Amino acid sequence: MPEILFPSRIALGRAFCNRESEREMLVQNVQQIRHTLIISPRRYGKTSLALQAISESKVPYAYINFFNALRDEDVAKKFVGGFSSLLTTLMPASQKALKSLAAVLANTQVSLEVKGVGASFSVKPTSEGPLETVQHLLADIEKLLEAENKKAVIFLDEFQDIVKTEMSDLLQAELRDFAQRTQRLTFIISGSHRHMLNKIFDDRSKPFYKLCDRINLQRIKSADYTAFIQKHAKSQWKKPLALEVINEILQLTENHPYYVNKICAKLWNLDRLPTKTDVDLSWILLGEEEYDSVVNDISLLSKNQRLVLQALSQRDYLQEPNSISMIQELKMAHSSISQALEALLKNDFIENTAQGYRVVDPLIKYVLNKAA
Ligand SMILES: Nc1ncnc2c1ncn2[C@@H]1O[C@H](COP(=O)(O)OP(=O)(O)OP(=O)(O)O)[C@@H](O)[C@H]1O
Ligand SMILES: [Mg+2]
Repeated sequence: MPEILFPSRIALGRAFCNRESEREMLVQNVQQIRHTLIISPRRYGKTSLALQAISESKVPYAYINFFNALRDEDVAKKFVGGFSSLLTTLMPASQKALKSLAAVLANTQVSLEVKGVGASFSVKPTSEGPLETVQHLLADIEKLLEAENKKAVIFLDEFQDIVKTEMSDLLQAELRDFAQRTQRLTFIISGSHRHMLNKIFDDRSKPFYKLCDRINLQRIKSADYTAFIQKHAKSQWKKPLALEVINEILQLTENHPYYVNKICAKLWNLDRLPTKTDVDLSWILLGEEEYDSVVNDISLLSKNQRLVLQALSQRDYLQEPNSISMIQELKMAHSSISQALEALLKNDFIENTAQGYRVVDPLIKYVLNKAA
């Protein structure tokens, strides 16, 4: 299979651009058993960053994705899955390893599962309820790492979904206690719902308050993206791209990693060097392809929220949403504009930057702008 240089999902290796300081920090934190929370609007590259940094750290890890783990049992099941994948990366699945595991693990039954030529560990917790299961699995991991004299990372992704479980508060307290105690296991935590994660981590009364270092992931800088795109252009067409082509990609996508990849994936299918017109055509095509998903995304917004989002889509930044001219343009009361902004911020449709409010998703902006 040819290498995918511009994936629409996780980017790793040659597909991964920059994030140097963030990677360095994560690798260091993993070495020092400091937990890290990675936060950003959707599709900025949180999962890619964590996985890339973990792979660079060369520390064994488990990836647990809590997407739709809404009940206590679901969460416990995810931990069991993470535990068994960690076992398999920690030691070769053999009879010998099984024996030493049995001696260390107090709360977990492990057996060897042979599939074809390969073998893997199969894990069965012996604990009662879901909370106890998680508690005991973590205790067993710590003991095992101790016995093996190793470190490990657990990457808890889409972590906000655990809030929906009944045991949420107890689980958070349990994880906090473990995270504070552990000498060997580092947590990296992320999720795609910034507002809900902030609620878990910024609330003084909640267990996770001040537990983690934090990375607020931004977009990749133009200079870094230019070098990255140029490198891939040279390896593809043996010639560099005209700067105006790269600038057009970055201007249309506003350096949003998901859209940079979407548009470059199209351009890299060409058997000749792309032109600025190719970039523009790809963007129009992308607008058509993603139109339904944009409509879906904004269909849950109220009329006022949609009006404010549309007004924001017509400019790059809006500094004073409550100015007299905006009140006139929107034909909305001051308080209604503020309410709409708050709801849009909460759901990551817009963000508040040093230059003012702006629409997060460049394609939503483009589609709404066209509709205006
Ligand atoms: N450092 C990077 N270099 C190149 N492409 C990247 C990088 N980081 C992310 N991307 C691309 O951006 C898109 C989103 O990446 P990813 O899924 O890692 O983001 P996320 O923030 O975890 O998204 P979500 O909020 O949906 O969980 C993907 O297309 C991915 O390939
Ligand atoms: Mg993700």
